[in-house]
Amino acid sequence: MIPVSKSQSLGPSRAKWSNPWAFILATTGSAVGLGNIWKFPYIAGEHGGGAFILVYLICILLLGLPVMLAEMLIGRRGKSSPVGSLDVLAREAGSSPLWKGVGMLAVTTGFLILTFYIVVSGWAFSYIHRAASGAFTGATAEQIDGLYQVLLSDPIRLASWSAVVIFVTMFIVNRGIEKGIDKASYILMPGLFVILLILVGYAMTTGHFGEGIRFMFFPDFQKLSVDSVLMALGQAFFSLSLGSAATMVYGSYMPQHISIGKTALWVAGMDTLVALLAGLAIFPLVIAYGLHAGSGPGLIFVTLPLAFGQMPFGTFIGTLFFIMLTFATLTSTIALLEPSISWLTERLRISRFQACAAAGLVVWVLSLGTVFSFNIWADITVFGKTFFELLDYITSAWMLPLGSLLVALFCGWVMARVVSASELNLSQRAYVLWRASIRYVAPVAILMIFLNAIGLNPF
Ligand code: PHE
Repeated sequence: MIPVSKSQSLGPSRAKWSNPWAFILATTGSAVGLGNIWKFPYIAGEHGGGAFILVYLICILLLGLPVMLAEMLIGRRGKSSPVGSLDVLAREAGSSPLWKGVGMLAVTTGFLILTFYIVVSGWAFSYIHRAASGAFTGATAEQIDGLYQVLLSDPIRLASWSAVVIFVTMFIVNRGIEKGIDKASYILMPGLFVILLILVGYAMTTGHFGEGIRFMFFPDFQKLSVDSVLMALGQAFFSLSLGSAATMVYGSYMPQHISIGKTALWVAGMDTLVALLAGLAIFPLVIAYGLHAGSGPGLIFVTLPLAFGQMPFGTFIGTLFFIMLTFATLTSTIALLEPSISWLTERLRISRFQACAAAGLVVWVLSLGTVFSFNIWADITVFGKTFFELLDYITSAWMLPLGSLLVALFCGWVMARVVSASELNLSQRAYVLWRASIRYVAPVAILMIFLNAIGLNPF
């Protein structure tokens, strides 16, 4: 094994974030997205609120945070694409080069997620216009549901909106780290926070805030099933973008002097805060207008617009909400594309422009599978799932946790202790906790998700 020093860099010199905040903002941008504003409120709503949220918070702290540290560690030490970094680090540890397969798995997972993510992100884009044009004002539940169905049933409209999303994403990623991702995060993330705070303020004054708080924070453990616990676990990985190579590739642009531990705490903290604030913005309004908090994926595209249509300044607030959602999804689509671009440029020695053009085109073509699954392929199902549902299920329930499991095993069992200790530079106690989680707690928990997914109840 080679000797280790703190400032050692194994890979070639690389683009860098302009300052530590840029890295924190971009990584938070990757984490904050549909997972927080679309999935989290409706899953929490379906699983009864408080108790689910408590389990979710425990999962973030006990499992998400340690795996996030591991991904940043791999990226920063390998200083290459996720595939290259694992290759470099496996060699450093004197282990099999096959470990780079973990990088390939993670890059592929991010790429596949991107193919359906741009479709849902396209809904958010299209809803800005709808909200601004007053389409929800005074509308009935049937009319609002009708608007949602009209969008989903039109493949050309869906494909056009996803084309807009992937094009904007390619444009930003093509500009590189400092001029593209860094700058975009500086505009989009503060914008998102400001809008979110306005929305929470509005919900506080106009909605049934007390009931919203009660719904979110008073746990009713009777509503908690094994399924909810495992759902919370899967959601924690998806929301923190773990197992998808995004954090690894962002970590590879991280300068040596930045503390991985503090940064990961910030990112996980802000991601959780946004999920909770999104709940606080949504539930008080949904409850105030007598609507159902557990209405599933349609919560923000059907239930919430119904509330926007009835409340004071609803057009303005609704428009702000969908602008915020668009900002949140864009910083995630950027993070989902970057790992592939870094791999393609490294592997094929092509320019960023060529890589972005090729990858963007392939993503868009593959996204048609998701587009069609809402209309012309709606009846084609495998195991009762449409193409979109299957892709979401395979990537979120299997590939992300598998990637995270392998990352945990690699950092916990393959990478030398001196290497992780020097790169992480944590206090003695924090390091021991991190290592215990990465070696035992995270792998066991993830294996439980798998057992549950194949129908074997682990309890
Ligand atoms: N974390 C993002 C969200 O919550 C989704 C995502 C997954 C983004 C994996 C990047 C990588 O929406």
